Order: sequence, then structure tokens, then C-alpha cells
Amino acid sequence: MVDLYALPTQLPGWPLHLIKERFNSSYHGDFERWRNAAESLPVTSTEGCVYDDTVTAEMACDQKTLDAIELSLKQLHPWRKGPFRFGDLHINTEWRSDWKWQRMRQTLGNLSGQRVLDIGCGNGYFGWRALQAGASEVIGIDPSILFCIQHYAIQKFFNDERNWVLPIKVQELPISVQFDLTLSMGVLYHRRDPVQHVRQLFDLTAMGGRGILETLVVTDAESLYPSGRYARMSNVWCVPSTNQVVDWMQQVGFNQVQIVDVTTTTVDEQRSTEWMHFGSLSGCLDDQDPSKTIEGHPAPVRAIFMGLRSS
Ligand SMILES: C[S@@+](CC[C@H](N)C(=O)[O-])C[C@H]1O[C@@H](n2cnc3c(N)ncnc32)[C@H](O)[C@@H]1O
Repeated sequence: MVDLYALPTQLPGWPLHLIKERFNSSYHGDFERWRNAAESLPVTSTEGCVYDDTVTAEMACDQKTLDAIELSLKQLHPWRKGPFRFGDLHINTEWRSDWKWQRMRQTLGNLSGQRVLDIGCGNGYFGWRALQAGASEVIGIDPSILFCIQHYAIQKFFNDERNWVLPIKVQELPISVQFDLTLSMGVLYHRRDPVQHVRQLFDLTAMGGRGILETLVVTDAESLYPSGRYARMSNVWCVPSTNQVVDWMQQVGFNQVQIVDVTTTTVDEQRSTEWMHFGSLSGCLDDQDPSKTIEGHPAPVRAIFMGLRSS
């Protein structure tokens, strides 16, 4: 069974000591509670794993067992990225992350044999999808201890050592290891120095590899630097224009930069559910004019960019 403290191999120079330091109640006061919730999952045996739109573990279990699984997983609330299904238990997450994956799946193509880095991976949902597309291994990093433990709980069903979620921040990574495909989705606008983040993405991409950058954007010519909150979030520093992102990617060295997709986020894609009962997108939009956030900024639009590292 995959162990919480297991270390992936072939990451020379990575600060793997941080795993032990951060999976610790002195680092996060809820750590033991969350770990116990994951450890208490009454998982018997799974009959098949399907890393499809709804990432699924097929298993036959009685209602009592399903209720116990639900109770344990609900202690890991909020479930933001998914959906997942374990037996007959459907984890209807805040985000339809499968919609984001569908927008880039064709561009990504077959990932056969590729090693993938997912920066800000949440609970690792996209890692399962990359494995389905053929990736040989996915290393996800995310500073949220809760999301790391959600992944650990999910691993109780899949026990698949090809998908990792490690409690490491992107700025803590050395560039000693490079990946065939690097993903940075939903992270750029949380970074105070967005260009440096794009450069990190480039540095972590192997020669001949591809970088995917997904971010909130504005469709106006001018990037937005919110002085206060953006859609109630206090940690959004820059919502760049699509042209700005293309410029940044070219500036750091990516070639053949393309805009893969631009989509307005809807309240069907991001919403409160019984697995994420905090407020969601609908509460961040202006009641009278949903094309604006509650602060009067343009409502969330997200874009996906891809670039090639050829030098
Ligand atoms: C908006 S979520 C996006 C999750 C997922 N990539 C997606 O696209 O649905 C941003 C994630 O980035 C993580 N994050 C924030 N700062 C980070 C950093 N410095 N390094 C790596 N991940 C970070 C957060 O914990 C969060 O899970």
C-alpha cells in the first residue's frame, strides 16, 4: 500500500526532507486528524481503476462500508478537484476538472512514456488523467497539506505508485530534474512575480518537452493588477491578458506558443456541492451583471497556453 512518507525515486536534488517536515502536526495542526481520516478508510479490494472523466475505483461493497468511506472522506472537506467515484460513492467536487482536461486533451495527444510535473496539482486529479493518456509517471506538487492527504486517501483505492502529490512549493524546486510535460494550472495569478513563474515552468521542462500554462486571463488588451480582491480571492496579484501570457512564454524561451483554449468559467463548472459546501463562483459574481465579479472586475475567464522547449 502506498505510504504517506514514501519517497519517489529519480528526483536528484529535490528537497524531499520537506515531506517528513510537513506531514507533521507541528507543521499543520489538522494533520493528525486528516491522516487518521485517511487511515480509517475501510477499503477492502478494488476491482478495477478507470482514470476517466470521473476517476473511478470499481468495487463491490455493502451500504455500511460505503457509509463509512463517505464519513472518512467528508472529514477531508473541501473536495475541490475531481470528480471521483469509489464503488457507488460519487465525489461531486466543486470543480468539473474533467472539463478543463477535455479542453486540452487533444492538444496534449498521446503522453506515452512521458514524465509529467504538475505544479499546484491540488489532490492530483490531473495526474490520473495524464496516466490515462499514457504518461509513465506524474509528480504533483502542492503546498496544501489537506490536498496532499486527499491524494493519500485516493491512493487507498488505487495504490498506484505512478502518481505522486508532494507538499513542496514550486519555488523550492531545483531545476536538476526536467520533465517531458510540465503543467502549471491555476497557479500563475497566485504568484507575486508571474514572469519568474513562467521562467520556472520553462526551466523545469526538458529539451523537446512542452509546458502547459493555464490561468485566469482578461480578454482586454491590458492586464489587470487588482488592488484588492478578485472574485473574493485576496491572493490574486495579476490577471494577465492573453497576449501578455504569450509574450511572457516567448520571452523566457518557449517556442511555438499557442493559445489552446479560452473559456468563461460558468457556475456549472465551479459550484458548491455536498462535497464542497463553502461559497463558490456564483457568490463571487455581481447579482445584477454576472459578466462582472462582485468587485466590478471582468468575471473569470481562463485560458490554456502551450509552448515547446527547443533550446
Ligand atoms: C486554483 S488551484 C489549481 C489546482 C489545479 N492545478 C487545477 O488547475 O484545477 C491552485 C493550486 O496551487 C497551489 N499552489 C499555491 N501556491 C503554490 C506554489 N507556490 N507552488 C505550488 N503550488 C502552489 C494551491 O495550493 C492550489 O492547490
